[in-house]
Amino acid sequence: MSKYPTVSRSLELYKRAGELIPGWTQLISRRADQFARGVSPIYALRAKGSRFIDVDENEYIDWVNAVGAIILGHADEVVDSAVKAQIDCGSLYTLNSPLEIELAEELCDTIPSAEMVRYTKGGGEACAVAARIARGTTGRDKILICGYHGWHDWYQAANYGVDPESGEYPFAGIEPIGVPRALAGTVLPFRYGDLTMLDALLNEHAGEVAAIMMEPARSELPPAGYLEGVKALAHQHNVILIFDEVSCGWRPAIGGIQSVVGVTPDMTVVAKAMSNGYPMGAVVGSRAVMEPAGRMFISSSYWSDNVGLTAALTTIRELKCRDSARRFNEIGEKLRAAINGALAEAGLPGKCAGLAYNPYVALDLPTGVDPRKVSTLFIQEMARQGVHTYMSFKATLAHTDEDIAQTAAAATETFKIIKAGIDQGNLDSLLRSDIKKEPFRRLVR
Ligand SMILES: Cc1ncc(COP(=O)(O)O)c(C=O)c1O
Repeated sequence: MSKYPTVSRSLELYKRAGELIPGWTQLISRRADQFARGVSPIYALRAKGSRFIDVDENEYIDWVNAVGAIILGHADEVVDSAVKAQIDCGSLYTLNSPLEIELAEELCDTIPSAEMVRYTKGGGEACAVAARIARGTTGRDKILICGYHGWHDWYQAANYGVDPESGEYPFAGIEPIGVPRALAGTVLPFRYGDLTMLDALLNEHAGEVAAIMMEPARSELPPAGYLEGVKALAHQHNVILIFDEVSCGWRPAIGGIQSVVGVTPDMTVVAKAMSNGYPMGAVVGSRAVMEPAGRMFISSSYWSDNVGLTAALTTIRELKCRDSARRFNEIGEKLRAAINGALAEAGLPGKCAGLAYNPYVALDLPTGVDPRKVSTLFIQEMARQGVHTYMSFKATLAHTDEDIAQTAAAATETFKIIKAGIDQGNLDSLLRSDIKKEPFRRLVR
């Protein structure tokens, strides 16, 4: 068995961060407690293709990929060259940039729901813009949500309507601290797949709902007819349908889940992978829904920055050139087969399932075994063998057959350790870290 890597420099930096940065990091998913703290790396020095080097000079295959923001691979040469060339011409002009129009045309050619476009720098910010446009366009205040839509007040107010400890809704265990109580009741969650609940909410709040914002899918395709049903209900109530494709967009198809399932919303939010690691987000939608935004106060200095615009234009064009949907399918199928082989070899009941571009491991655990301990042990043992991952995998186009083979070999050894721990009832003694924390529960798997 290989030794555990030294991550002392990471731990030292994390300690310093704790003194200076409330909550240690800028993204909850980058906190040490989201992985196997003490074994997993926390700080990176550099990244290239499918791999990164941490501050202790350990190398890892990366299946997290900046929670999906990296899609072509780290430090992609084509995107980075375009960005560097743009930097030499100025990253932010006093005037507007023609790139804004070029990218808008590219997005309208690419995303089925796109006729007009507004930009932001991040996904949550783009969701907030979409919520503003929907409210401004309809003159109504309430928004029905299903999924994760960022950190802003409009959305986090959802937790005022539910018991945060119930585990049923988005932020189990996280209180909406600092979110104005006046917003309570303005945003209401609904369960994915449950048209009856959505119908009931729309009737209960008839004439008050501006929009339904939802993640149309995550790691599974929607049940047949579900999104069609959501769209029909939305339009029956004159409610704007918004797909948040910040996480599910780009990988399944360049036009997003909507182009896979053939259901076009009124508005779509995209970000993350659209620019392969440079800040960029967008709200796109039909002319009817978007045009009133011209009269709303939606304005920010860096939304026109040329780096994000160039990175997004180049990334989208590269995804097209590199036949991304077919390649993601290929990579994902190979990875799923390899992980299923690892499960079989280790004799651990379970399967690797989910859409090819985002497969996940679902274990059939005996009653009484804590799945959180198992997932922490999985992350810990994969990290020991140089693979940085959750129990789900976000592929990039840079992942190779060698990466998959190495990941499968690490998974085989990891599954054997998990099986032995379960059989002998000693999972606790195998864990070298606290149990990984769950940041928030999503409504869409
Ligand atoms: C579906 C969805 N919407 C919005 C966001 C927020 O995006 P950002 O972290 O760029 O603000 C995320 C981030 O994970 C997401 O998955």
